[in-house]
Formats: sequence, structure tokens, C-alpha cells
Amino acid sequence: MAAIFRSSLRLRPTTRLSAVRTLTTTPHMRAAEKPYFPDEPSAPKLATAIPGPNNKAAAAKLDKVFDVRSLNMLADYYKSNGNYIADLDGNVLLDVYAQIASIPVGYNNPHLRKVAESPEMVNALINRPALGNFPSHDWADILDTGILKAAPKGLNQVFTALAGSDANETAYKAAFMYYRQRERGGAETEFTEEELETTMKNQSPGSPQLSIMSFKSAFHGRLFGSLSTTRSKPIHKLDIPAFDWPQAPFPSLKYPLEEHAQENAQEEQRCLQETERLIKEWHNPVAAVVVEPIQSEGGDNHASPAFFRGLREITKRNNVLFIVDEVQTGVGATGKFWAHDHWNLETPPDMVTFSKKAQTAGYYYGNPALRPNKPYRQFNTWMGDPARALIFRGIIEEIERLNLVENTAATGDYLFSGLERLAKQYPEHLQNLRGKGQGTFIAWDTPKRDEFLVKAKGVGVNIGGSGQSAVRLRPMLVFQKHHADILLESVEKIIKQL
Ligand SMILES: Cc1ncc(COP(=O)(O)O)c(C=O)c1O
Repeated sequence: MAAIFRSSLRLRPTTRLSAVRTLTTTPHMRAAEKPYFPDEPSAPKLATAIPGPNNKAAAAKLDKVFDVRSLNMLADYYKSNGNYIADLDGNVLLDVYAQIASIPVGYNNPHLRKVAESPEMVNALINRPALGNFPSHDWADILDTGILKAAPKGLNQVFTALAGSDANETAYKAAFMYYRQRERGGAETEFTEEELETTMKNQSPGSPQLSIMSFKSAFHGRLFGSLSTTRSKPIHKLDIPAFDWPQAPFPSLKYPLEEHAQENAQEEQRCLQETERLIKEWHNPVAAVVVEPIQSEGGDNHASPAFFRGLREITKRNNVLFIVDEVQTGVGATGKFWAHDHWNLETPPDMVTFSKKAQTAGYYYGNPALRPNKPYRQFNTWMGDPARALIFRGIIEEIERLNLVENTAATGDYLFSGLERLAKQYPEHLQNLRGKGQGTFIAWDTPKRDEFLVKAKGVGVNIGGSGQSAVRLRPMLVFQKHHADILLESVEKIIKQL
């Protein structure tokens, strides 16, 4: 395994090393714990300004055939390693953005490489099944030992999908079919002639005017259906026809939380009341409420466990399904495997959607009535991907082997206290620090956010933003305290340059 891992390192441009500026050296390994990957770089390295000449040339080449206007950096994934992402000019950055929060266990993780090279993976890749029609003999085993092994408490079934938006859309479809099935009086009741006819004309009652409620600033994806529940930025939604669905207010909390406990509780109460009012009064009946445990793309907006418990009660009371979108928060990032594990719910969510760090996608559910009453109502060609399910199984094995959820909780606490120190020192640059006790799912606001993100590369860190003014940290689960030390020093360096 180690040999496989090292083989990727051999590709490093050793001739350039003399020109490379190692930004932080061993003294920064203050937090003395064993690195998970002995071959991982000990610090970022800068060889050129970023982007360097090779990156610029490669971006120009790519621009001829592919829209590069959203380009952040072109990477060399052969040379990327653990928490470090390499570019084409010999720069190696500590990556706390991790492919928009989707790399769980490090670049070129040796265990995942082993999974990738297994005969099972080769079979899954070259004989990709149409899962609804022709699943392989071992699909149940792959699910049981992988995706379902990680199932949230109380949920024991999965519908697999292709991406986060797809996971949400299929969950919405399940919610609508469930709603109408209940209205009709059960799974056995046949559709009426009128329903069969009107649905072909996109008209009610066959295509009913039902809705999914989401929250202001929410992000649930960019496909047609999911986009109607996304409320983060106009640019995501412009020109796309949308459903007439309600949006509830999401709490706007004041920080530090301890100093605003009463106000924040009142704000959450206000949002819950408005949510319930909208459910009762919206002209298109609400089949489900979808919520992110932490609104991520929308600016890292948090709410308390009490708020989410309240939401669960409201959905129960009003016979509305409760969908928790764990696409970004799931798989360990908040210091629990699922972020909603922080809430101590009395009854589990009806559906939990996942993707990103799972490297596959889908929704978990428990109630068998959420399976549509007939086949082919929830269906597509691939319905997921066994190859990606095998990777998720490998990720789960790696998380268990290295106790990565515990690591993320502990590293997150350590990082948060470091950031609290910096927030005291630089209050104008580090505002509304949030994510305490939420692993490494940490963010803060800063007035010169975009400049902050650009300057981060100059000190050897790849870092992302969310919403209008937040710097968001989304490191991998293999991010350790010595990486946190480097990050803290880098944040201070950036602030000093602003
Ligand atoms: C909470 C949440 N839901 C859904 C999505 C959409 O996932 P995808 O981009 O894989 O479609 C995202 C993506 O950022 C997300 O953060």
C-alpha cells in the first residue's frame, strides 16, 4: 500500500526543489501527533506566483474547448498528496477547500487506490449496470457493507443517485408520490383516468400543484427541481422556470452565541412560527420541508439543535415529510458522521440526502411507503454507480481505521480555539466566527473576503468562500492539528497583508 502511495510521489519535479520556497517548516509541527500519511508534505511549497506560467498556459489551452470562467486553479492530481494539492508549476498548497468539500480521506489515499485497483472495481467500471434493471449479483452486499453501513439512525434503505442535486430531486419525487398516495387512500388505490390524462398535459390532478418548502439562503442544487428549492444567489436561478414553492426564513444568529442566547432563541422561534404558518397557508400544499443542517453555499448559516427539533415537530404535526440535505455536512465533517446526529431528534428525518464526501449520492429512508407503489416511477438508466459505491465503502473503511470522525471533532475544537484567539486579535478581519463544536465545519465573515481568498494561495493555502462574505473551511477528514497550526499561521499572514 505504502509503495503504491509513494509511486505517485516519484512524479514530483525534484529538479525544481532548490527553487521551491517551503513556507512553513518543522517548528510548526507543534501539535505533536502522528501524521496519517508519512509521505505527505510537511508544509506548503511555493515555486512561482500563482497562477504560474504552466498553469496560465494550460488554462489558455483549456479555454479553447471548455468554459474556464469559473476556474480556481488547474491541479496536478498525480502530484497531489493527502491534504496537499499540487499545481503545474511546482506549487503545493494545503487544501482546506477539498474540491468544494468533497474529498474525504486525502488525495491519492493509498487505501482508495487499492480499492480502485481491485478486480471488483474494474468489473464495476467496465460493466456499468443499469441498476434498476440489471443490478449485479453482489449489489446488496456492496450496499450493506458500504452505503447502508453508514446509514443514519432509523433509516435502513437507500435510493442511489448520481449527484447531490439528483439525490434531492429524487427525494422530492418520493415525497410527492407519498403525499398523493396518502390522499388516494393507500398504495393499492389505482390512478384515475383523469389523473392519467391530465398528467400527460402537465395539469392537475395528474401533475398536482404540490410544493417543497425550503429556507431563504438555502442551496439544494442546480437541476430543475432542486433549483426551485435553492435560494442562495440569483445568478444560480436566473432564466430558469421555477415552481411556485414557499421559502421560510432561516434564523439569522448573532455571534458569539453565548452572548446572544436569548435573542437567538427568539429569532429561531420567529422562524419556526413562520415556517408553520407557511405550511398551513401556502396555496400549493407542502409535501416536504428540506433543510441543510448548516446552510453551506448560502454563507455558512447555523441554527441550534432546538431549532431543528422544533422543525421536526412542526413537520410531524402537519403531516409533512422532513428531508435533511446532508450533501455538504455529511460524512464526518461536523465531528459526527451525520450533522443531524448533533440534534438528538426523537424521530429520525424521513429522508437524508447525501453526496460530496460520500463520492456517490442518494437518499436514505426508512418508511417502506416511501417506495413508490409501482415500478418505474422512480427510475433512470444508471440509478447510481457501483464503482462510486465501492469507493464510498473504501472511504468508510478508512474513516473507521483512522477514527477520522473523532479526529475531525478534536482537530475542529483545536482549530476553533486558535481562530478565537485570532478573532480577538483581529476583530475587524475575523467576524462572526462560527462552527464551535461542529468539527472543522468552521467559517467567519471578513469584509475583504475575495481578496482574502486570492491572497491565501500566495501563502500556500487553498481556501474557499461561501455566501457574500464568509471564508469557509472545508478540510478533509485527514486534516490534523499540525495542519491546523499551518492554517492558523497562514490566516494571520493573510490578514496582515489586507
Ligand atoms: C447542501 C447541498 N445540497 C445539494 C448540493 C448539490 O450537489 P451537486 O452539486 O452534487 O449537485 C450541494 C452542492 O454544493 C450542497 O451543498
